[in-house]
Amino acid sequence: MEILRADPADAAALTEIAHAAKRHWGYPERWIESWRDILTMRPQFIAENVTYCAKEDGRIIGFYLLTTENDGMHLDHLWISPHAMGRGIGRALFKHAIEQAKQLGYREMKIEADPNAAGFYERMGAKRVGVSLTEIEGRPRELPLLLFAVPSKRDGEME
Ligand SMILES: CC(C)(COP(=O)(O)OP(=O)(O)OC[C@H]1O[C@@H](n2cnc3c(N)ncnc32)[C@H](O)[C@@H]1OP(=O)(O)O)[C@@H](O)C(=O)NCCC(=O)NCCS
Repeated sequence: MEILRADPADAAALTEIAHAAKRHWGYPERWIESWRDILTMRPQFIAENVTYCAKEDGRIIGFYLLTTENDGMHLDHLWISPHAMGRGIGRALFKHAIEQAKQLGYREMKIEADPNAAGFYERMGAKRVGVSLTEIEGRPRELPLLLFAVPSKRDGEME
């Protein structure tokens, strides 16, 4: 497995992985449809942000995308192909993302997680700091907000 900068030409493959990974939690198809826009990775979005993918035998099996907003660095996307889950790919991409944030001089990374993925981020060392309130089909939906403390460049390499 290697981690490489994502090519904007890979937009369709990344979009497919984001949809497949989200479906993995068993959400109704109409919910997946309502999230289509945020699960669609457009070439320009990939190019303008810090986007890296994990490749195995030439095939993309996961990716992440970091965005910079007024309030700092956000892990906006992290998705692993269902067939590749549970093999440490998410951990490897997460560590890579932290290294990128560190090189860019950020001291924290914000994450708005799917409720099913919050445990993964906690396992990676992120702390829950609140919730983001959204709505689906007229019902409130709470998304855990987490914060990861990025080591400074002086702290040296992460273990
Ligand atoms: C959540 C996700 C990114 C994890 O990636 P992964 O490659 O399957 O995870 P890894 O194999 O690297 O797991 C690393 C560790 O986290 C744990 N872990 C993985 N997924 C977890 C979860 N959903 N909840 C709690 N712990 C989890 C693993 O057990 C492992 O623990 P260990 O340190 O004891 O070995 C991936 O399953 C995924 O894409 N899920 C669906 C989409 C999604 O919701 N993505 C996040 C959007 S906010």
